Amino acid sequence: MQASIFLIIMIKVNTMKNCKSFHPTYILSVISLLIISNAAILKAQNVPLVNIEGRNTTSLDGDWQIIIDPYESGFYNYRHKESDNGFFRNEIQTDKTQLIEYKFTKEHVLKVPGDWNSQDPMLFYYEGTVWYKKDFKIKNILDKRLFIYFGAANYESVVYVNGTKVGTHIGGFTPFCFEITSLIKKGNNFVVVKVDNKRHMSGVPTIMTDWWNYGGITRDVYVVEEPKAFIQDYFIQLKKNSFDQIEGFVKLNGITSKQNVKIEIPGVKIEKTFETNDSGYVNINIPVENLSLWSPGNPKLYKVIVSSGNDKIKDRIGFRTISTKGTDIILNGKSVFLRGISIHEENPLKGRRAYSKEDDEMLLGWAKELGCNFVRLAHYPHNENMIHTAEEMGLMVWEETPVYWTIDWKNKNTLANAENQLSEAIERDKNSASVIIWSMGNETPVSDARNEFLIALSKVARKMDGTRLISAAMEKHTNAGDPLTQIVQDPFADYVDVLAFNEYIGWYDGLPVKCSKIKWEINYEKPVIITEFGADALGGYHADKLTRFSEEYQEDLYKQQIAMLKKIPQLRGMTPWILCDFRSPRRVLPYYEDGWNRKGLISNKGIKKKAFYVLQKFYKELSGKE
Ligand code: GCU
Repeated sequence: MQASIFLIIMIKVNTMKNCKSFHPTYILSVISLLIISNAAILKAQNVPLVNIEGRNTTSLDGDWQIIIDPYESGFYNYRHKESDNGFFRNEIQTDKTQLIEYKFTKEHVLKVPGDWNSQDPMLFYYEGTVWYKKDFKIKNILDKRLFIYFGAANYESVVYVNGTKVGTHIGGFTPFCFEITSLIKKGNNFVVVKVDNKRHMSGVPTIMTDWWNYGGITRDVYVVEEPKAFIQDYFIQLKKNSFDQIEGFVKLNGITSKQNVKIEIPGVKIEKTFETNDSGYVNINIPVENLSLWSPGNPKLYKVIVSSGNDKIKDRIGFRTISTKGTDIILNGKSVFLRGISIHEENPLKGRRAYSKEDDEMLLGWAKELGCNFVRLAHYPHNENMIHTAEEMGLMVWEETPVYWTIDWKNKNTLANAENQLSEAIERDKNSASVIIWSMGNETPVSDARNEFLIALSKVARKMDGTRLISAAMEKHTNAGDPLTQIVQDPFADYVDVLAFNEYIGWYDGLPVKCSKIKWEINYEKPVIITEFGADALGGYHADKLTRFSEEYQEDLYKQQIAMLKKIPQLRGMTPWILCDFRSPRRVLPYYEDGWNRKGLISNKGIKKKAFYVLQKFYKELSGKE
């Protein structure tokens, strides 16, 4: 498609040229059309299916045959042009004279879901392309539409079914789904996926992160079977600041004329029918009474049934309201303090990406043990199991788009990429009562280009979802000559509902005792959340409280930080860095780090460090006051 748009424009330009008046606006329109087409390409193939668990699916999880291809020779020919003869063809040699220089075999396999780094020591540091292949059978294709759905794959994926490209996806932490109906045959089929986790300056995230760049098909894969016309998407939540109005939309796929849609919520005796427009879209508005509102103390989920024609989908949805008032965060009409912790999507005991319900229950179970009612899922959307488990456990969630550190702010494709990842996350989790805050990024240096970038992102989020809060993990600074007055001042702060920032006083900035001398200058009438503070401690290493990397240092840091932060009048929450030690290629100090960021309150062996109990005690005091 890109090529065709380009062609049309070139023809246009040539005719202009012939008229000898080669106008600069034409150049501009060419460039903007190219950028639009890129964003369009990013969106066009992907068919977002909300609530994958409620659909008719066949899992493709398990062993996938692989080919490790650092030079992408299965994709490009020797002229570095995309080849028609790539590994996606999965050609099998049938004649001894035939030259086929690749083969998927059962000797070379990787588990899906799962990152490749923890599965094969050869791939521990690997950043490049791996080809995955999976055979699958389809019994019945009559009157069916078939889709292939990926929970996520890091970072860039190209998907082929039965040798034909069905779509591409950029971004390692959100779902993508392509229609494959026209390519599928009854019986044997195969899917090939090229996954590449190389980092790019223009990427989201960009080249520098403080987490392991796990590559691979890291979440579940399904073949989804749908009727010709089906329920593709819906948004069913309480209207902003209302306890008795459910609002949202339903979107059907595959219809060309008005159709009825029914929404049932038996738990509150709701059964309401709406009529869509010709393209299958309808806004919904349902008065409701006696809703038991979702909250950490009452994680109530209602059975919700959406049906239309001969399609029906069941879901479990919690209803709650979230807003701010002055410096308060208001949950279901009451001010709430967010007792939180930051979490990476990693199973520290296994040293790999977390993906399963068990992984997520372990991580969130530890957060509950700490006394949390809130978790910051850093720095990217975590797997869907994590969101559902948080919902069931009564944990509110901060969900973040990986706009992290020094993004290529002026690059329009980078913005389109970030907007796409944010939209995909909102599409996936918009019906989840646990998600209360969308975060636009982390520790991004203030500049005009950065401000514009984040503002554009926040506009996407507000347009897609008017029910939740917007924020970002910002930074603080000091004025020359006055290192003890910490100032939070950021042009993007005017666009957020909750003012959040990271600070490392006592670790990267002085010793823990410095906390006791700090004054804060935060001139915003908004709720404040401290999204990061912390110190590294090697689990089991004990010394005096001034010895870095000792548990005693970390313990003292937490005591000093809590005492300091309590003095901030607008303080309404915190998510210290971090629940567990996590892998990072930036952490190379022998013995103490060895490839791990040690700021966890729990070590990579699952041992709780002394600071764990300091925070637990503080959260107990806070919840005692509620
Ligand atoms: C940063 C960053 C984290 C990082 C942490 C650290 O603030 O947001 O991703 O891991 O500090 O240095 O430990």
